[in-house]
Amino acid sequence: MLPTMKISVVGSGYVGLITAAGFAEKGHEVLCVDIDKQKVGMINERKPPIYEKGLQEILDHVVPEKLKATLDLESAVLGTEVTFICVGTPSDDDGSINLKYVKEVSAQLGRILKKKKTYHVVVVKSTIIPGSTEEHVIPALERESGRKAGKDFGVVMNPEFLREGVAVVDFMNPDRIVIGSYDAKSGDVIESLYYKFKAPVLRVSLKTAEMIKYTANSMLATKISFINEVGNVCKKLGVDVYDVAKGIGLDHRIGPHFISAGPGFGGSCFPKDVKALVHKAEEVGVKTLLLESVLAVNDNQPKVLTGLLKSKYKLKGLKVAVLGLAFKAGTDDVRESPAIPIIESIAAEGAVIAAYDPKGLENAKKIFGGRISYCLSAEEALKGSELALILTEWEEFKTLDFSMMGKKRVFDARHIINTDLLADDVEYEGLCW
Ligand SMILES: NC(=O)c1ccc[n+]([C@@H]2O[C@H](COP(=O)([O-])OP(=O)(O)OC[C@H]3O[C@@H](n4cnc5c(N)ncnc54)[C@H](O)[C@@H]3O)[C@@H](O)[C@H]2O)c1
Repeated sequence: MLPTMKISVVGSGYVGLITAAGFAEKGHEVLCVDIDKQKVGMINERKPPIYEKGLQEILDHVVPEKLKATLDLESAVLGTEVTFICVGTPSDDDGSINLKYVKEVSAQLGRILKKKKTYHVVVVKSTIIPGSTEEHVIPALERESGRKAGKDFGVVMNPEFLREGVAVVDFMNPDRIVIGSYDAKSGDVIESLYYKFKAPVLRVSLKTAEMIKYTANSMLATKISFINEVGNVCKKLGVDVYDVAKGIGLDHRIGPHFISAGPGFGGSCFPKDVKALVHKAEEVGVKTLLLESVLAVNDNQPKVLTGLLKSKYKLKGLKVAVLGLAFKAGTDDVRESPAIPIIESIAAEGAVIAAYDPKGLENAKKIFGGRISYCLSAEEALKGSELALILTEWEEFKTLDFSMMGKKRVFDARHIINTDLLADDVEYEGLCW
């Protein structure tokens, strides 16, 4: 296998585009495929359709020599050796995984593979519930192509562990590369694709690879709900949960990561992946008491915050500067952001909201429309406001000057404000401290 390969990536969202850009940066020739004409156009013009630090620089470097985007799946697959499936896998109403897009793409790929003379490997990178590659992807590929997996084409499940906000760094420097393969040859091809990455490679079965991804996200979500629950107790006891987290994080059996209390986890992954695992467990007759509690604690955490606000302030007519809309810092992604239920709740109580986020404003507008006003800076939102509500841990919020507020009151849901630097006339309150 040549070290430089031709790759097509189907779905050019957060995972697809970062994967494509990352492989292109490592020297492979990559074609991004999407059904969204605007996204395809933007990528070809080196304009990242999403915000991720470092992505602009990579696009400037690799488009068009190493990376191009197209709407034409067939020619992309026919002209490459490996195809990554990176389409979305949202939740259905009952919490189970919706495999519609993965199934559609698998069937399309099967029809194209029928025309392909040379060996091709299909790699599932989308997060799909254990068993899905064998139960849905392979049957669709075999049915539509009339060919045999493991003989005529290869199949790999290669989960992605990148974190939005630091996605480029994570993709380029993974903690591990998990390669679940149907057969040894498929796995070898994909292992060679990653030859420039310095990370341990774990070769497992398709189902194990799928389960590793769900277990990782469930573990991380569990840590967050755990510390949030502890934080709610700390608040009542007059203890700062961040001091407690430091105290436990120094224990090497626990570690310092993912124990930052706040308004709960959001984003397109943790909520949907934990729900999907709970649902799958039920399907196979296992009651997931812990994971159900992780979700319940998380659903409750925005309510803990709004409960504190309601008990402290008369929200009707209160001018609130909401600082932070993205579900975490470093991204423009507002999917399942805790800011959404919090804003909905205080707006329902009559709060007048002026919101600001360094990157997430445009996406937030699609959710809140004209119900809140949007500001181009934190200062603009704070001007004349009576409460500053910090919902995302953006660096720029650390050193804010609150002097332009009508009433200088700060409610910090992220433990981001350095209270030592606050002027004496600023009233400060934290969520779990
Ligand atoms: N976002 C993350 O941080 C992250 C991290 C790890 C894994 N994942 C998983 O990766 C998968 C993708 O997530 P995402 O956040 O990148 O989703 P996304 O919604 O940002 O992107 C999906 C893309 O697929 C495109 N698409 C849909 N149907 C298509 C088709 N038939 N042909 C071509 N393109 C099509 C959409 O237009 C969109 O651009 C999900 O399974 C998710 O769980 C996401």
